Amino acid sequence: MKCTINEVHKYVNEEVTIGAWIANKRSSGKIAFLQLRDGTGFIQGVVVKAEVDEELFTLAKKVTQETSVWVKGIVQVDERSPFGYELLVTGLEVIAEAVDYPITPKQHGTEFLMDHRHLWLRSKRQHAVMKIRNEIIRATYEFFNQEGFVKVDPPILTGSAPEGTSELFATKYFDEDAYLSQSGQLYMEAAAMALGKVFSFGPTFRAEKSKTRRHLIEFWMIEPEMAFVEFEENLEVQEQYVSYIVQSVLKNCEIELKTLGRDTSKLENIKAPFPRISYDDAIKFLHEKGFDDIQWGDDFGAPHETAIAESFDKPVFITHYPTGIKPFYMQPAPDRDDVVLCADLIAPEGYGEIIGGSERIHDMELLKQRLDEHNLSMDAYQWYYELRQYGSVPHSGFGLGLERTVAWISGVEHVRETIPFPRLLNRLYP
Ligand code: 4AD
Ligand code: MG
Repeated sequence: MKCTINEVHKYVNEEVTIGAWIANKRSSGKIAFLQLRDGTGFIQGVVVKAEVDEELFTLAKKVTQETSVWVKGIVQVDERSPFGYELLVTGLEVIAEAVDYPITPKQHGTEFLMDHRHLWLRSKRQHAVMKIRNEIIRATYEFFNQEGFVKVDPPILTGSAPEGTSELFATKYFDEDAYLSQSGQLYMEAAAMALGKVFSFGPTFRAEKSKTRRHLIEFWMIEPEMAFVEFEENLEVQEQYVSYIVQSVLKNCEIELKTLGRDTSKLENIKAPFPRISYDDAIKFLHEKGFDDIQWGDDFGAPHETAIAESFDKPVFITHYPTGIKPFYMQPAPDRDDVVLCADLIAPEGYGEIIGGSERIHDMELLKQRLDEHNLSMDAYQWYYELRQYGSVPHSGFGLGLERTVAWISGVEHVRETIPFPRLLNRLYP
């Protein structure tokens, strides 16, 4: 019976044929152990000299790492294996030999691995991270579908720049200037006025000259937007959503979390509600902690976010940031206009901001004033402004950065391991 590695549980004590690669190998005079992988999982193949013909044993001893094979064997339950099964090999046929595979089981430097990202993806660790990424995406669609959101796809080529004009990737759109999308938000606001509750999932681009463990040039964002929803309700959706994806990964990626050595006790209590702290109080807290470098009106850097996050065991919302350090579209607080109705969600364990969100301005006059203050031309934003002209309603939304979320849940230090082919400062290949 032909099957994949994640299907072997159906064929205990039966003979199966699997298309696989040799991930690793060790052998003695009497026995050879083949670590097999086929993309769906990993299984150990055991070749016992006394039980197979000589040709098979010789081949098992000399087959090289990453050679592709058809392997035949009897599925056996194996309590010691993290996957629960092993294969007593009865046949081995080489499909294509791999000669001098560059990524050996020994340690390699990061630059070397990044240069070989197209191959590095095959490793057990990268496999685990990609499976967790996939689970977060799957759970995202499930959550928003259950909650009655409609998936809407905003454009990638755009004429406007919601998150500031300094980090744009400019390109030509025939004779016009265009930009790669930094965020689908403005389009999602239009979609929310048509469909009520909407979400998007797509790539976004920021020409940020930041070389940190949290920054990618191209990253994927989930951006929900909701009509008739104000600031506090927006936070409730965020904490429900983040809890849902963490609990889904715990439930469905047990093997992957184990492969990564993730301390899952830190994830188990990630359940709504999450704590909230105002920007004002966060500044006071930082001063008490001895951060003399920061003053009211400054944006937080990574060390500030980490210090705040460290005093909570769940993600924490920092709310009501100063108007001056946030984008033009945020609704001012009702009682004071020096802060806006926004929140960043900071992940625990030093992973930093995973969500930015806010209530949006729905008043025409105020929006016009803000566009002027930010030197944004009415020509480019006419359509966005018009949303306020025809039955404007309070509305809110947020954007969750997928890669930072994958990094946090997987316990992986750097976002470069959380996306198949990371675009980083000075890295466009592979
Ligand atoms: O805080 P940001 O810039 O918010 C927005 O773009 C809003 N328009 C979203 C919205 O309200 N619809 O970005 C949102 C999230 C951040 O919290 C972070 O997780 C991620 O996107 N992010 C990045 N991830 C990786 N590399 C970068 N360079 C990132 N910049 C932002
Ligand atoms: Mg932000």
